[in-house]
Amino acid sequence: MNIQFAESASADIVAFMIDEGGDLPAAAKTLDDAAGGLLSEALAADNFTGKAGQQAFIVLPKGAEARRAVLIGAGKKDKRDARAFEKLGGQLYKAHANSGFASLALHAGKAEDAARIAVGVRLAAYRFDDYRTKLKDEDKPTLSEVTLILKGDKTAQDLFAALSAGVDGTYMARDLVNMPPNDLNPETYAAKIETLAELGLEIEILGEAELEKLGMRSMLGVGQGSVKESKLGIMRWMGGQKDEAPVALVGKGVCFDTGGISLKPGAGMEDMRGDMGGSAAVVGAMVALATRKAKANVVGLVGLVENMPDGNAIRPGDIIKAADGQTIEIQNTDAEGRLVLCDVLWYAQEHYKPKAIVDLATLTGAIVIGLGHHHAGLFTNDDGLASALTDAGMTEGERVWRLPLGPEYDRQLKSKFADMRNIGGRQAGSITAAQFLQRFIREGQTWAHLDIAGVAWVEGEKAPTDPSWASGFGPRLLDRWIAENYEG
Ligand code: BES
Ligand code: MN
Ligand code: ZN
Repeated sequence: MNIQFAESASADIVAFMIDEGGDLPAAAKTLDDAAGGLLSEALAADNFTGKAGQQAFIVLPKGAEARRAVLIGAGKKDKRDARAFEKLGGQLYKAHANSGFASLALHAGKAEDAARIAVGVRLAAYRFDDYRTKLKDEDKPTLSEVTLILKGDKTAQDLFAALSAGVDGTYMARDLVNMPPNDLNPETYAAKIETLAELGLEIEILGEAELEKLGMRSMLGVGQGSVKESKLGIMRWMGGQKDEAPVALVGKGVCFDTGGISLKPGAGMEDMRGDMGGSAAVVGAMVALATRKAKANVVGLVGLVENMPDGNAIRPGDIIKAADGQTIEIQNTDAEGRLVLCDVLWYAQEHYKPKAIVDLATLTGAIVIGLGHHHAGLFTNDDGLASALTDAGMTEGERVWRLPLGPEYDRQLKSKFADMRNIGGRQAGSITAAQFLQRFIREGQTWAHLDIAGVAWVEGEKAPTDPSWASGFGPRLLDRWIAENYEG
């Protein structure tokens, strides 16, 4: 998708935004006259009021400046935020993607609004067709060029460049989550991460021998039933002050979660291809930061494993020792995400002394019950971090909702034999999972955990800006959080 900003442009389709209850914009008047009043007629129709999302299509006479005109409802003037403009861009793209026309030009208003419309177009234009061999021509999008017409096109272009880096991150995260687990396993995933060096990221991949030496037995335990080698992927973007401590982003990268010996039921298990969604958010965020050359030091760490049942797999009853020395009694091999994260969190603290750590994981089914598909669960030991992440999520439309931590919940992790067990019983499952992680966070370390199990993918009817199975949740939120808090 080629997106341009210009003071004027010609295109197959020319579109105009109409405020709810509003009139034709001045820019549409000449065309309306040339077309014998067809635009005014469409605007006067009872079923077009300018309500957000409405569209009226007008076939223009031969010789007119475009082949089609479109009026798109922009809703009430005082009720429009960034989200509304992204949605408008998404609706516009969706309605004309397969129209047979290649180019569309929209008369956009202010630079910020135009940039958000462009973001919406890009989010909506995402496709995951790599595995289709029989895609019919009529199902292939024809629209390949969208121009936003406005005065101040240079400002809009600059605003969009920064936002668009976030969308690059979203695309990356969507691709990774959508990919089938036979093609995205810890080894191929690590190889994919290595190619990101071309963006200027410093990449380091640790394999099983190195992880063994570090004592990361908890993470290795999860992967030991898989024929694929477990990997720790590390991505550094050092765009900030030299010697300044970085921010750490940590992601759960369970490339497929069968549950292990505590096998999951068969129905819907294929969704567990997305159980690396936390890691995808981290990789996507690193892509965004490198693409816009962020002035911050950030390290992304992803624990890549596959949770398989096998003669060599970990069992319920096993007691393993994590890298920081604490022992864990496995009671359910399906509570594997926390076993991966605890060792990666240890590594992040031991090797980077980060200013703050944010981990992301499709950690619990319980968070889907609690918050549904509209907010990720937020757990943190720092009120400032809670509001910074909440604000960043609101700004980018990737919303998070804080849930509590506390010693009462932590007690549910008591084990008869070891320092802790890996499940906390039926009650407050998302909170006890977070408590488990917090046991690996050192005194004084600022930390937040985002449980994204409900938002990493969503089935069924969705917003036009979220067109595939994988939502790509995370990169835009993280990129915004870093931009607002760590770049001077
Ligand atoms: N990957 C799952 C969580 C999950 C469930 C993600 C549904 C997305 C959608 C995780 O590894 C898991 O299996 N969690 C268990 C924990 C339980 C055994 C304590 C769960 O939530 O049932
Ligand atoms: Mn599991
Ligand atoms: Zn899992």
